[in-house]
Order: sequence, then C-alpha cells, then structure tokens
Amino acid sequence: MKNILVTGGAGFIGSAFVRYMVEKYPEYNIIVYDKLTYAGNMDNLLPVSDEPNYRFEQGDIADRETVRRVFNAHQIDTVVNFAAESHVDRSILAPDAFIHTDVVGVYILLDESRQHGVGRFLQVSTDEVYGDIESGFSKEDDPFLPNSPYAASKAGGELMVRSFHVTHGMDTVITRGSNTFGPYQYPEKIIPFFTTEAIDDRPLPVYGDGMQVRDWLYVDDHARGIEVALMKGVSGEAYNIAGEDQRHNIEVTKRLLSLLDKPDTLIKYVPDREGHDRRYAMNCDKLRALGWERQYTFETAIEATIRWYQTNEWWWRKIKTGEYLEFYKKQYEARLAAAE
Ligand code: NAD
Ligand code: TYD
Repeated sequence: MKNILVTGGAGFIGSAFVRYMVEKYPEYNIIVYDKLTYAGNMDNLLPVSDEPNYRFEQGDIADRETVRRVFNAHQIDTVVNFAAESHVDRSILAPDAFIHTDVVGVYILLDESRQHGVGRFLQVSTDEVYGDIESGFSKEDDPFLPNSPYAASKAGGELMVRSFHVTHGMDTVITRGSNTFGPYQYPEKIIPFFTTEAIDDRPLPVYGDGMQVRDWLYVDDHARGIEVALMKGVSGEAYNIAGEDQRHNIEVTKRLLSLLDKPDTLIKYVPDREGHDRRYAMNCDKLRALGWERQYTFETAIEATIRWYQTNEWWWRKIKTGEYLEFYKKQYEARLAAAE
C-alpha cells in the first residue's frame, strides 16, 4: 500500500480521515478525489494543503474517464470510498443524485479499481442499511432493511462491493458507522444545524416527538475505525463502527442549548420526517477484536464540538447562503409554519 485514493475526502468524515492519515503516515501518498458537491469543501482540507504527501483531484466517481485518468496518474493501489450523497432529508426530496453516486458511482469506482489492479477497496457505509431496530443491537450479518432512499442507495452500493469480492475475488472491506459528529460537519445534520441556528437565536425544528434514538460517534473515532478496518480487516468482511452512546434527539437538542446558554423555547416540534427510523444501535465487538476502541463519548466530545462552531463562524456562515437557503425553505418552511 502506497498511493491511497480517498474519494469524497473533501466532506465531513473523509476530510477528518485525510487530515489524520496525512500526518500519521508520511510514507503514504493520500490523493483526494472529490466532485465538490454542495457538501464538499476545500476549507476542510486546508490543514493539510501544503503537505508533500497530499494531492487533490476534482471529479465524479461515476465519471469513468476521469476516474481512469486519476488511477493512472497516481498509480493508485488502495481506495477508501467516502463519496456519497449523505443526507436523508435530501434523499426524500430528490433521490436521483443518491442513485447516481451511492450506487452507480460505487460500481464504476469498483470496476475501475479492478481493472487497475487495486489491492484493497474499502467502502464506507452506514448503520442505516439495517433500518429501524426497536431493541437490541444490529450485527454485521443481520439483514438489510433500509427505509429511506439514502439508506437504500447505500445498501445498493454495499451489495455491489460484495458482488465484486465474490465474483472477481477483489480485496474489499466495508465499514458501517453510526451517527457521527464533530468539527467541519455540513450544517444540515442535526448537531451542526441546531448549533448554528441556536447561535443565531433561530427555531430548532425537532421532528415528531423528538424521542427517536441515534448512536453518537465522534468523528476522530470514526476515522480511526476506518484506519483499523483498512489495515487489519479481513477481506470480504463488514465491520460496524458504533459510538455505543445512544441518545434521544430531544436530549441532544437540550444539551446543545444548555452548552450554548440558550433557552429551550427555541425548540419547535414540527411534523415528522417521512419514514423516520425510530432507533439505530449496533454491536461493534467485531471491530473491537481488531484492536479498535472509541476514545471519546458524546459527553466528552460534545462541548469541544459546540465550541468549535462558536469559534469558527468563518467556516459555516459562508455555507449558509445560496443553495443552502433553498434547501432550508423546501425542508422547513411549511414544517415550521405547522409547528405546535
Ligand atoms: P458529506 O456529505 O459531508 O461528504 C460527502 C463528500 O462526497 C463531499 O465532499 C462530496 O463533494 C463528495 N461527493 C458526493 N458525490 C460525489 C461524487 N459523485 N463523486 C465524488 N465525490 C462526491 O458526508 P459525510 O458525512 O462525510 O459521510 C461520508 C461517508 O460516510 C458517506 O459515505 C456516508 O454515507 C458515510 N456515513 C456518514 C455518517 C454520518 O453521520 N455523517 C455515518 C455513517 C456513515
Ligand atoms: P440527521 O442528522 O439528519 O442524521 P440521520 O437521519 O442520518 O440519523 O438526523 C439525526 C436525527 O435528528 C434524526 O432522528 C432526525 C432528527 N432531526 C430532527 O429532528 N430535526 C432536524 O432538523 C434534523 C436535520 C434531524
């Protein structure tokens, strides 16, 4: 392993992985390949922009010609695929881009990887492929029951990866992370969205009764989990990466407000997300057996995360313009008008 292609490396988790790997492994070349969609952001890569073992190439994982050029130019031997459309609400409003990137894009990246003799292909996936789990913990061999177009497209991409392992003997590994939080997260996901809205004293639209449960994983723990799976994972296997820290959405919301010293009156209960999964929770013994342990809990990492958004307005204020405001209008205007 020498030349690692990190697709989607300008996004939230991909850029955390890149910042970590560039520093930790000066002997590897880290080449980021990213389409720079609304969620891709070169500011996320500023901390490594001058490092000699980092390169950036712009392109779509579903664009075969450009993928091929980049494989040849950098003699890629390892692929870590973060590239995805990643927001459930957007997948309900407009699923096309999800099929394009999370299914077709994964297929093209796999096919080109095979043709270029890539060693290991790691696909970054999500707990959402298991669907809603009322009690207990999802294990790697549990069936897929995806409920949103996002989850279904991620499941489709995973199945493509599996088929290339079985059919062509490709060396593949899949990781399934739980809900991730930390600095540089696009402010459409609940934690950065609510934090930046609350800073401006704007309403926080909590879907339904706010009693849905998510398992929270700090972004640096997620990045290290992917590193462990990449280095030590068994070919053809999938590994859950869980925060093992489950919280109701309303508890998360109230914790943010108290850390920001803002009143609970900003909370607005709005009509629920369609097909909203009630609970995600995973067992992560399999990754732990490879030597991974989380280093943060929700409680130890949430305050530093909130402070990061408070002190880095330069990063998020310029995002919350243009297309972002159009999405906000479509997603929240009618909901907030109907708020209890
Ligand atoms: P993100 O939306 O912040 O970033 C996605 C990145 O992919 C962006 O830089 C975007 O420009 C790029 N991209 C999108 N379409 C592309 C295409 N066709 N070609 C090339 N690049 C493209 O996402 P994230 O939150 O960092 O998630 C990264 C990965 O982790 C995704 O695969 C997601 O499914 C998975 N995941 C996310 C979470 C979470 O809580 N955020 C949890 C588990 C798994
Ligand atoms: P989100 O950050 O979109 O992640 P995911 O849907 O992948 O779990 O949402 C996390 C939880 O927060 C989810 O149960 C939906 C809820 N939520 C709200 O209640 N209001 C919001 O405005 C958003 C974005 C999310």
